[in-house]
Amino acid sequence: MKFNVLVIDDEQLVCKSIKRILEDQEKQVFTALNYPEAEKILKQQSIDLVLLDYKLGDQDGLFVLKEIRDQYPDLSIIMITAHGNIDVAVEAMKYGAYDFIQKKEDPEFIRLSVERTLDNLRLKKEVEELKSSHIHNACLPRIITVSKAMQSTIDLAREFAKSDATVLVEGETGTGKNLIVEFVHYNSYRFNGQLVTINCSALPSELIESELFGYEEGAFTGARQKGKQGLIEQANGGTLFLDEISELVPDLQTKLLHVLEKNEFYRIGSVHPTKVDVRFIAATNANLEDMVNQKKFRMDLYYRLNIAAIQIQPLRSRNEDILPLTKFFIDEFNSKLNKSVTDISGDAKIYLKTASWPGNVRQLRNLIERTMLLKKDTLLRLEDIISPLIKSIHPPETSLFSINLNAENGENLLHKAEKQLILQALNISDGNVSRASQLLGIPRTTLNFYITRYKIKEES
Ligand SMILES: Nc1ncnc2c1ncn2[C@@H]1O[C@H](COP(=O)(O)OP(=O)(O)OP(=O)(O)O)[C@@H](O)[C@H]1O
Ligand SMILES: [Mg+2]
Repeated sequence: MKFNVLVIDDEQLVCKSIKRILEDQEKQVFTALNYPEAEKILKQQSIDLVLLDYKLGDQDGLFVLKEIRDQYPDLSIIMITAHGNIDVAVEAMKYGAYDFIQKKEDPEFIRLSVERTLDNLRLKKEVEELKSSHIHNACLPRIITVSKAMQSTIDLAREFAKSDATVLVEGETGTGKNLIVEFVHYNSYRFNGQLVTINCSALPSELIESELFGYEEGAFTGARQKGKQGLIEQANGGTLFLDEISELVPDLQTKLLHVLEKNEFYRIGSVHPTKVDVRFIAATNANLEDMVNQKKFRMDLYYRLNIAAIQIQPLRSRNEDILPLTKFFIDEFNSKLNKSVTDISGDAKIYLKTASWPGNVRQLRNLIERTMLLKKDTLLRLEDIISPLIKSIHPPETSLFSINLNAENGENLLHKAEKQLILQALNISDGNVSRASQLLGIPRTTLNFYITRYKIKEES
């Protein structure tokens, strides 16, 4: 560890002799004959320790001590006093000097006092570094993957983490967008700051506005007496994560754009902007580009958010991740539920790898959790998996339909069955065509074709 030491003394000779005593491979010593000179050095160099003469010409050393402490609270200061001037030394310690040495002291004594102070600093620095690396490691999310697609997503996230660019994470529900957001935050230099999350779809827009921007005292009826700090301010020095950004109403989209461009915002009820230092990350499972084309999302905000875009592939298109993830979740629930599953049967593996996973990794995790709740032995079988899966995506009341094989009027029963199956899938997925197409195992465009063919839109 290298330290920078600054000696402030109006006697050139004292400066020179202390520099000679102290300077070695570990310590670089700067000298200043007065406070203005010292100030310059303090601004330019990162000084760890100051040796300060209590009498700097006609300037009071105690005054300078206070000035330095106010501006650089982390600096250690050793006071240099005249021989026998113990009162000044005591006073200096009260103002926060770490130690004092007397002028014309034995050089070895001066060196020892400086070493003692530096030992303390070294310890402090080591503790800080340990604390940082502990927070860093403990908070970094575990992202399980063997697929090339996900590995390049992670590489991209790691690159974006190095910058302060606004990141947009896109991907279907349950693909791991939150994990990637955490990964970016905890790999960035802001990892010691807060990662503050707001879910734009979870609250009505007026509440989102006051949550985000905070408000001044009496800004509206019901506002708290003292006003309230918003999440943007809370994230100062850290990251603000705007989840489900597509749900943000147009008025708030405009206000958010202002924050992103100017790094400032207005608390509700205030005409004065507040400056902030926040990194923004947004996530969505909607197609923002489509929303821009449909004029539901501001184009300029989209471009501002889209500076660094990360797309997470759905699980079905990186199915080599399915078994490693399954094993990871089995381990997780083995220890949470006190179970001892060690193997997966061959047919269960095939099933897991070929299912369409509309709910992606979350669905897989939920399935493993439900399955493991009932497990008594060590082998995960196809039957264990299938029954909860069927229950979860095909509620019995919507999964039954009957077609009478005695055709009436020569009706095409295959078409009738197709139509009913499609209606059922749309019903389960609340009319969401993408999800319904996943449930049916056909491309979205094919489903759209059938929807038009069977005139389903008019009926549903
Ligand atoms: N690669 C992965 N490794 C380990 N766990 C994962 C991985 N991907 C997702 N998960 C887990 O799956 C669940 C869903 O992930 P996450 O909440 O990040 O998804 P999401 O894309 O944000 O979903 P939504 O769109 O619904 O908000 C979480 O429990 C998460 O820990
Ligand atoms: Mg999420």
